[in-house]
Amino acid sequence: MKLYHCTSCNQVFIGMFESESIMNCCGQNLEDLQVISNEEEQEMHKPQIRQVGNFFTVTIGHQDHPMLEVHQVEFILIKTNQGFQYKRLEIGKKPQVTFILDYNEMVDEVFAYCNLKGLIHLKL
Ligand SMILES: [Fe+2]
Repeated sequence: MKLYHCTSCNQVFIGMFESESIMNCCGQNLEDLQVISNEEEQEMHKPQIRQVGNFFTVTIGHQDHPMLEVHQVEFILIKTNQGFQYKRLEIGKKPQVTFILDYNEMVDEVFAYCNLKGLIHLKL
């Protein structure tokens, strides 16, 4: 799975399958959404995982990540052995979501998107 970003309209696209095709939006080629590389920012955005039964909770950051118009976590996405699940976050709420996993569904990767710093990616 790959995530793409249009720098013109700020749209984010999900490439579900491995492919060499070039994606376009607003008349330009899309760029891969860049994973946050700065160590300090990685730590600030590190996903905290808690699983109880089939409830899989992801919180972004040790302390509350801002959820303001100018700096927020826009979505959290989990890639599992059965596909993926996506949840959008809301301004003013905690940067936390809970996914319900199916029987035998295992989470492989966690993605989250900070509108200021970029993509957060955690492989489990
Ligand atoms: Fe952030």
